[in-house]
Amino acid sequence: MSKADAGRCPIAALEFAQFDHHSAQHRADAEQVWDAMRAATELPRSDAYGGFYVVTRHADLRTAAAQHKIYSSAQGIALPNESRTRHVPAEVDPPLQREFRRLLDPFLTPDRIAANESKVRAIAVSLLDGLAGETNVEMVSRFTEPFPVHAALAIFGFPSQDADRLNNLVDGLIHGRGSEASIKASQELTAYLIEQLQIRGASADPSKDILAAVAHGSVEGRALSIEDQVSITRLLLFGGFTTVNLALSQTLLLFAKQPELADRLRNQPELFPTALEEFVRYASPGTYLRRTVVADAELGGSKLRQGDQVLLCFGAANRDPAVFDKPNEINLARNPNPHVGFGFGAHRCLGSAIAKLELRIALEEILRRYERVDLDPNDSIAWGEGETQGLTRLPLVLRPRA
Ligand code: HEM
Repeated sequence: MSKADAGRCPIAALEFAQFDHHSAQHRADAEQVWDAMRAATELPRSDAYGGFYVVTRHADLRTAAAQHKIYSSAQGIALPNESRTRHVPAEVDPPLQREFRRLLDPFLTPDRIAANESKVRAIAVSLLDGLAGETNVEMVSRFTEPFPVHAALAIFGFPSQDADRLNNLVDGLIHGRGSEASIKASQELTAYLIEQLQIRGASADPSKDILAAVAHGSVEGRALSIEDQVSITRLLLFGGFTTVNLALSQTLLLFAKQPELADRLRNQPELFPTALEEFVRYASPGTYLRRTVVADAELGGSKLRQGDQVLLCFGAANRDPAVFDKPNEINLARNPNPHVGFGFGAHRCLGSAIAKLELRIALEEILRRYERVDLDPNDSIAWGEGETQGLTRLPLVLRPRA
């Protein structure tokens, strides 16, 4: 960015150069930084992690997400990329990625996922029953984090008694990135998933059971390697753990700050389909994902060279005033709502039907039980940083309905 361009932005290029989505202070002023980045005439560039461009405008993000021949996922979608394993199908480019999706997509349509309604509702009810009689509750640890873990285990047919163990392993993986503990957690998880794939491959019908389909699956005419089977299963299970947790907790924070939103949704449940999309737009839990430039290109006023890294900021694109009227406000009836909270293009979220089922059921049960929820005045909320951003603590005062 030239000095003249930087002069037009509320935040100078110098500050963009220090931008780090993993810094603890980032989330606090994220909206302001995103506004400044969107207003720049070139893609803002950070010096962190070997240097990367940030894509914040909705149109630019959709261009990059749609052009996998220029913007590849195959070199990893996290920044920095510390993973030793390839995440399938997220870190595979089309056309191979499409073959993986052909194997998985039929099991995750809204119709097939809807069959899990009663199982998922029973999990929400049981977790909320566990809060009965309590007024001051830290909702992340007590509800929004465990709920999607238990729900995913039920949907994918894993033993429910493994929920806590899996949750701890995921925690070790996410929070101890690159550490010895996280490597150990990853190994334990791999062994567990291989065992589950063997059990299901031997006992279940691959036309009805997604894990059996993976165990018996093939791409490009070859049986899936055990590494790919484990990677797919891992992403199926974990894709929704953090993301649904973050979407749900931010929605509860909205309910606490704007009780009229909760009241309106309770009285007009027909708004759920548009409201759920709006909550995902607003929270954008898949906040930052990386692509690697594999052919020279121009994007957002910048010339990009092969080997450059670009960080797609789904959170910023979802607040782009060029596309969304009053982007920082919630409109429960927003329609159309072309948000990119579930991604865009070939890699669009495989689990969006699961996410929406879980979010709807959790919110319905909370609205049914509680007249209102307030922020606990004697405690404080906390935000996390990184690729998936959102609340790590949400202390609420729960006010049950009469
Ligand atoms: C509110 C919840 C969720 C949000 C916001 C979300 C967001 C996203 C986003 C932004 C992508 C695109 C990644 C990219 O372009 O590189 C994605 C892909 C993906 N999501 Fe989700 N997700 C959610 C829930 C889930 C759930 C419940 C699952 C469980 C099956 C899941 C599984 C996946 C998988 C497997 C991919 C990779 C798809 C591919 O590369 O073809 N997600 N998600």
